[in-house]
Amino acid sequence: MKTKIAIVGAGPSGLLLGQLLHKAGIDNIIIERQTPEYILGRIRAGVLEQGTADLLREAGVSERMEKEGLIHDGFELAIGGRLEHIDLKKLTGGKTVVVYGQTEVTRDLMNARKACGAQTIYQADNVAIHDMKSAAPYITYEKDGVTQRIDCDYVAGCDGYHGVSRKSIPADVLTEYERVYPFGWLGVLADTPPVHDELIYAQHERGFALCSMRSATRTRYYVQVPMTEKVEDWSDERFWDELRQRIPAEQAAKLVTGPSIEKSIAPLRSFVVEPMQYGNLFLLGDAAHIVPPTGAKGLNLAASDVNTMYRILCKVYQEGRTDLLEKYSEICLRRIWKAERFSWWLTSMMHDFPENDAFTKRMQQTELEYFVGSIAGRTTIAENYVGLPYEAVE
Ligand code: APR
Ligand code: PHB
Repeated sequence: MKTKIAIVGAGPSGLLLGQLLHKAGIDNIIIERQTPEYILGRIRAGVLEQGTADLLREAGVSERMEKEGLIHDGFELAIGGRLEHIDLKKLTGGKTVVVYGQTEVTRDLMNARKACGAQTIYQADNVAIHDMKSAAPYITYEKDGVTQRIDCDYVAGCDGYHGVSRKSIPADVLTEYERVYPFGWLGVLADTPPVHDELIYAQHERGFALCSMRSATRTRYYVQVPMTEKVEDWSDERFWDELRQRIPAEQAAKLVTGPSIEKSIAPLRSFVVEPMQYGNLFLLGDAAHIVPPTGAKGLNLAASDVNTMYRILCKVYQEGRTDLLEKYSEICLRRIWKAERFSWWLTSMMHDFPENDAFTKRMQQTELEYFVGSIAGRTTIAENYVGLPYEAVE
């Protein structure tokens, strides 16, 4: 087989890049290890920056998001047992976010790809990337016991943190930056009405909690837990009790509980690899960077990488300009590091770090009080939450 862009991974990064390229008439094939059902079984975050929503519109996959997505003009920080409203719209000159689950974004992208007939190879084993330093890279994989080969111009490594793309680059050309946090998030999905009309990020001495939602009848709640906790030890009742203790009394009294549909513990990590290019292989999304979920930046950062890669590839195929390819990594990384900073900062402010001494705990509380008590402080939180601007590709 032959294509222009071989895309490894059918998560949101790979599917969105594939859809945009297809619309622009740039031929591509997606090679994925799992089945579509497996991918759609993963519950991930659900806050889309305006730039992400706009890119989904440009890709022609926004119909259901426009109908079912919830536009949020703000969110709440719960500190010291009270709610502090962050008015995103007012503080950012009119910007908002859309609450719409990543799983639904992925489903919409998969349906669009099926409808337009673009090729996706699912359940591809032993995917390997070859000759990426040459002008003729190729991919091999096994399907039903037979080895296949795809020749291409460029490879888009959209295969997540555990994928093969980053691992195919010689270790001595990469620098990895990493922080692993000593706790995780225990998340519960339930068919209950949201406790509040906006998201609540709660700081509490028992640990962080987040009240999020998927719709007017479906909620997603999280509590910070030590990584040593086991999900089996958390009955629904224990989860609801813990959540109730960590949110302000007024909301706790209103909390509607119900049986969990999904319950899991996710670790928190900050990770960046530099550079994001090796010859004709480019890394996008979780393959190149991970953020802790506190700022809801994971999917949004993936979308901004896709935006950059897509615009560069349009220049390559429509104008014959290949000079921008070597700018890909630096353009992406400037924005990535700023989102890493915000995610790290919000994580550091909102969580309980058992190793922090009494002075550090007071500093943490005071920093939060200072930020929410100042227009400048609220503005910096808001402008990061709605997403920093994309850099022009020209
Ligand atoms: N060969 C083929 N496919 C692979 C391989 C491999 N060796 N390894 C991984 N994959 C696939 C995975 O099965 C997965 O479907 O690549 C896909 C990567 O998808 P994601 O992990 O969702 O990564 P990405 O598309 O970059 O999405 C980023 O997902 O994890 C969240 O917070 C993150 O919201 C962000 C978004
Ligand atoms: C979610 O709805 O799952 C969610 C929302 C906001 C976050 C993280 C997760 O910051």
